Amino acid sequence: MSADLRSRVEQYLSTTFLDGNIPSRLSQAMRYSLLAGGKRLRPVLCLAVARACAKDRAEELTAAILPFAAGLEMIHTYSLIHDDLPAMDDDDLRRGCPTCHKAFDEATAILAGDALLTNAFSHMARTSVPATVLLEAVRLTADAAGAAGMAGGQMLDLEGEGKKLSLEELRILNEKKTGALLFNACECGALLAGASPKQRDAARRYGSELGIAFQITDDILDVVGDEATVGKEVRHDAESDKATWPALVGLDKARELAAAHCAAAEKALEGVFSGPDADFLRETARKLVNRTH
Ligand code: IPE
Ligand code: IPE
Ligand code: MG
Ligand code: MG
Ligand code: MG
Repeated sequence: MSADLRSRVEQYLSTTFLDGNIPSRLSQAMRYSLLAGGKRLRPVLCLAVARACAKDRAEELTAAILPFAAGLEMIHTYSLIHDDLPAMDDDDLRRGCPTCHKAFDEATAILAGDALLTNAFSHMARTSVPATVLLEAVRLTADAAGAAGMAGGQMLDLEGEGKKLSLEELRILNEKKTGALLFNACECGALLAGASPKQRDAARRYGSELGIAFQITDDILDVVGDEATVGKEVRHDAESDKATWPALVGLDKARELAAAHCAAAEKALEGVFSGPDADFLRETARKLVNRTH
């Protein structure tokens, strides 16, 4: 099921940015990063939550909100391109390939990120749901990616280099930098499906727990992972003296926390969602702590 949702996202993305009006170097850079692989977690979560909320029209809904889900992946890919720039994390490897600024150049990578972020909203606007619902989802997404969300989290991440943050400060950094977009994917999935308040609340709790667990695991992988499997440079956080979970609480405690947040994510679905899409959401939470990339 998840493989199917993932391939639908993949298929949609593969047709984007081929417009002859786009300067070819820009479209090449955008497609290079967008189509380099990646788990597609955010769009797949959005689709799976929506399907779990409206089981009787899951297929129709998937087709209707695919452009929205694809837009989330465009925003995520932009964030990775900019995150890797020399002025930020200065990374050479992403999704198993040279980073965008290595394969092209810095200016092209900056513009590819700008264009992916902006065009994402054009794709989201093509979602076939009632206009007021879509407007709300677009607003939530802009806020999740913006200054109080992901971009703000990236600011805190850079400011956190070389500092020992408190647990609370690290939690807030995490919530904004990574949590906001994952949370938003789940919340918008529910919103676009016309979920009941109970379903929407469960999706929000699931997304929030998953967001924390996801970044803890990302930080752990930087310490224990190997470059070929992770597909990005490892041991880089310590080199940059980043504020991470393993640095703050140690590896064992970080693993414990990730497992606890995954369990809480699973629990949030209890009694609200059932069926194959709910099983997939549960499995995603369960597998998260053991992921290797
Ligand atoms: C990596 O995200 C950056 C973080 C937000 C921690 P993913 O681990 O989802 O990266 P891809 O999309 O699979 O490459
Ligand atoms: C980046 O976090 C999160 C965003 C891109 C918003 P990281 O810097 O830890 O992500 P990786 O490890 O480079 O993928
Ligand atoms: Mg970073
Ligand atoms: Mg990084
Ligand atoms: Mg990381």
